[in-house]
Amino acid sequence: MTRQILVTAALPYANGHIHIGHLVEYIQTDIWVRFQKLRGNRCVFVCADDTHGTAITIRARREGRSEEDVIADMRAAHIRDFDAFQIEFDNYGSTNSAENQAQCRQVWSQIEAAGLVVSRDIEQLFDPQAGTFLADRFVRGTCPKCGAADQPGDNCSVCSATYSPADLTDPKSVLSEATPELRSAKHLFIELEQLRGFLTEWSQEPGRLQPEVARYLKGNFLGDELRDWDISRPAPYFGFEIPGHTGHYWYVWFDAPIGYIGSTQQWCERNGESLGDWWSQDADTEIHHFIGKDIVYFHTLFWPGMLKTAGLKLPDKVHVHGFLTVGGEKMSKSKGTFLMASTWLRHLPPGPLRYYYASKLGPGLDDLDLNPEEFVSRVNTDL
Ligand code: 2FM
Ligand code: ZN
Repeated sequence: MTRQILVTAALPYANGHIHIGHLVEYIQTDIWVRFQKLRGNRCVFVCADDTHGTAITIRARREGRSEEDVIADMRAAHIRDFDAFQIEFDNYGSTNSAENQAQCRQVWSQIEAAGLVVSRDIEQLFDPQAGTFLADRFVRGTCPKCGAADQPGDNCSVCSATYSPADLTDPKSVLSEATPELRSAKHLFIELEQLRGFLTEWSQEPGRLQPEVARYLKGNFLGDELRDWDISRPAPYFGFEIPGHTGHYWYVWFDAPIGYIGSTQQWCERNGESLGDWWSQDADTEIHHFIGKDIVYFHTLFWPGMLKTAGLKLPDKVHVHGFLTVGGEKMSKSKGTFLMASTWLRHLPPGPLRYYYASKLGPGLDDLDLNPEEFVSRVNTDL
């Protein structure tokens, strides 16, 4: 029987170039999709740039241009790299598209109607010079515990203490060096706890998730009350404004996964297909997400919770892979092992890297090591 399968790979952020670590996932997914197509299944592979959030605004300000300009350039660079590595997306969209905005509104209206949204004021550091609230990683200062200087806003790299950025002694904004002020602002939250029963059932169903992922969710999240998810950011924020909440924007992780639907919609419109045949609750489709192990809870808690509430098709499988290491270590710019896709292509063709990753990938979450000697010997021996 022919299966109808929708496949997604994680949407790369529009604030950086594609590197060989990203390529593990895109190559893995591309091979899986080609295999399904060869078997005669109907398989559609969608992706998009993940364009919203603070990092893009910071980059745009630094470069003296608009966010739209930054994301347009990055899109062209991403597409060029993916094409060169022979990743065959059926549609490559953007989270900053009209289709995605319409889908976000649709999903949001259902979440609000289900009574899952609450509003609370929270205190956060604000940069008076840059005129913006600061996410934890945009504040640095002296560790309140051990006194180490110039530590990040959420944890100390010297004594490993965790804290909130307001606890730092001498906090400074990374954007302007100004001393941030504590200000209160309204945030909207989704009460995930209301969905815990459903999420437990969905995530623990045999075959849906890799066993270690199902165990991780059960052991770390689902055994206790789920915390509310802070889903809005006050202006200024590069994203979509939330209907009925002027001056408040969806947090980037709300509209990013909805980008899978927005991108499918673009593909449907180009191909005379109906979106409902792919994403409605009872569609005769399988949905497969491929992601890295750092974004598991977004895809296995928040995302199925959003889809369930919106009455949409739930993922049939979330395939999680490990990280890339080079020579047994984390990729590092200073060691010269942090390679952009474009750097690889200046020296070598894409095929050997595709082959090497394919030969090493398995069903688990283990990290995959790019070992230069082994790479040479596998390519020369096997190919
Ligand atoms: O972690 C990341 O790189 C995110 N940009 C992935 C988003 S995947 C999806 F949910 F949009
Ligand atoms: Zn410390």
